[in-house]
Amino acid sequence: MNIAIFLSGRGSNFVSIAEAIKKGELDAKIVLVASNRPDANGLKTARAMGLPTAVFNRSEFDDGGSFADFMLEKLEEHNADYIVLAGYLRLMPPRVVRAYRNKIVNIHPALLPKFGGKGMYGMNVHRSVLESGEKETGVTVHYVNEKYDQGEIIAQERVVVKPDDTVEKLARRVLEVEHRFYPEILQKISQESYK
Ligand code: GRF
Repeated sequence: MNIAIFLSGRGSNFVSIAEAIKKGELDAKIVLVASNRPDANGLKTARAMGLPTAVFNRSEFDDGGSFADFMLEKLEEHNADYIVLAGYLRLMPPRVVRAYRNKIVNIHPALLPKFGGKGMYGMNVHRSVLESGEKETGVTVHYVNEKYDQGEIIAQERVVVKPDDTVEKLARRVLEVEHRFYPEILQKISQESYK
């Protein structure tokens, strides 16, 4: 499975995927690491690892069509057959979603369909979970379609919300689960246990 990783910031899920590949736990090759932000920390990490990188900046293009064409060209140039979103904070262009139908996956730090949608990222998610008094939250891996966090769910894992949780404590525990869970599910996808 040749994967292109898309990220917008820190890139800790990208690193956990790269480590799982190195340990032989995930049969995949990272063929491209891409970001909408040229200064994303994850891109720096990718460069330091010697991986090919790309910046997809919509504002450099006159229209959505030529932007999507550029993205597809890059993906083809690197022979990507899956797109793995790991903290990517942009919608995928519809043309790319069509070209990679059921081949784009995302990880979300909550139990979708709860606590998803536009603006539900980072600490906002965990703050909303705590404020709503939920007893459990978790991690969701799902296919990506044209709408934020609404593609078909592939797998979920629960995380208990503790009475003394703060936003930071909860975020840390959920992230730990993400780092183990995402490579595991990607491995299942590569073994074709999921469609
Ligand atoms: C993760 O919590 C992921 O679920 C969400 O964005 C965050 C990315 O973190 N989609 P990182 O960049 O992988 O450290």
